[in-house]
Amino acid sequence: MSQDIVRFGVVGIGNMGSSHVRNLGIAANCKLTAVCDCNSSAFERIPAEVREKIKCYNNASELCQDPDVDVVLVAVPHYFHVDIAIEAMRNNKHVLVEKPIAVHKAEAERLLAEAVKYPHLVKALMFNQRTLPAHIKLKELIDKGELGELRRVCWTITNWFRTQYYYDSGDWRASWRGEGGGVLLNQCPHQLDLFQWFFGMPTMVRASAKLGKYHDIEVEDDVNAYMEFANGMTANFIASTGEAPGVNRLEITGERGLLILENGQIHFKRNEEEMTDYSRRSPNGFAAPPCWDCTIPIPAAGVVAHRAIIENVAAAVLGKAGLIAPLEEGIRGLELGNAMLYSGLKDVTVNMPLDSQAYAEMLAKLVENSRWQKKTVENTTQSDEFNKSF
Ligand SMILES: NC(=O)c1ccc[n+]([C@@H]2O[C@H](COP(=O)([O-])OP(=O)(O)OC[C@H]3O[C@@H](n4cnc5c(N)ncnc54)[C@H](O)[C@@H]3O)[C@@H](O)[C@H]2O)c1
Repeated sequence: MSQDIVRFGVVGIGNMGSSHVRNLGIAANCKLTAVCDCNSSAFERIPAEVREKIKCYNNASELCQDPDVDVVLVAVPHYFHVDIAIEAMRNNKHVLVEKPIAVHKAEAERLLAEAVKYPHLVKALMFNQRTLPAHIKLKELIDKGELGELRRVCWTITNWFRTQYYYDSGDWRASWRGEGGGVLLNQCPHQLDLFQWFFGMPTMVRASAKLGKYHDIEVEDDVNAYMEFANGMTANFIASTGEAPGVNRLEITGERGLLILENGQIHFKRNEEEMTDYSRRSPNGFAAPPCWDCTIPIPAAGVVAHRAIIENVAAAVLGKAGLIAPLEEGIRGLELGNAMLYSGLKDVTVNMPLDSQAYAEMLAKLVENSRWQKKTVENTTQSDEFNKSF
């Protein structure tokens, strides 16, 4: 590492890894020095003029040992995140791991137990949505207490519409063996992370999780979760990859009013006084507290969100910034998603924290019993059978 340049090696040059390669070409204080993919044809995604200046490996271990790499950016399918990140740290490399941190909580615990052994290394997650101005503003409003005590949250995220073609486009996708989960593990890690970032962790989770409701896949593509918090707040989290047109709408009810985040805009119907106080004191049975209708100004976006995280990691390595998304925070959103799936498939209420071993055993059984083969006629009913067996 020179004085102000941090050298990155990217493992996994697929959809996301090739995007990271492009961002590393323009990110401040960053330089791409190496890439790795077990499939050499992936390197063709990198422009020849870039490729000739970097090293291309087929084995992540080799990249992790490269003295010209300071940060290993892990952008492979989820099951490999933990082992590659551990190998990178053991070779004294900083790590930036794609979401999700791991497939299940016990694996995340294994990674974090290793990570604490390297306090001098920067360890981060690609939670790029934490850099979006509307999300930063919303967190600020909640943390400042602008909404008063929070009472109810409802987040509907059904604009993750995916076609069958998408699921068929990668062998690892949407199978217990290759991916380890569906909408909760692939599309929703951003919202699950933001959810815990905004509201903290619930004490109880109850959910339904439908396997292959809309697609010929064996994992969940439709989830409806209910949660309770220590302060009495309740929450709904609804996610699907099968609904079109979908919506991404977060409604937060606090004593001070109703806030709605949608399409990057925040609308706040702000009560002039706290609703429960008003209810206790009002002499009128049908009155409601007067409220102001406010649109909260959102600052313009800076650089592209993924690039912002890469630049933040470089700044942290140079000792110039704290991390936006530290690795250890990734376990919380993962635990939420795992708890929803566990509740849905076992038909039980999960009292948090989730028993990580129990979840690991459930997933191991799903992997063992997986009969997934793409596009065969008998597979069309497989998801129903999975739903019935849990
Ligand atoms: N942060 C985001 O917004 C975002 C968006 C999309 C994907 N992702 C994450 O990025 C990761 C990759 O997703 P993708 O869509 O790019 O997948 P992809 O299938 O397009 O690419 C994965 C690449 O990794 C390679 N690979 C697989 N195993 C490997 C190994 N052990 N060593 C080296 N290379 C290996 C494959 O050959 C492939 O080129 C996933 O974990 C996903 O959740 C994050």
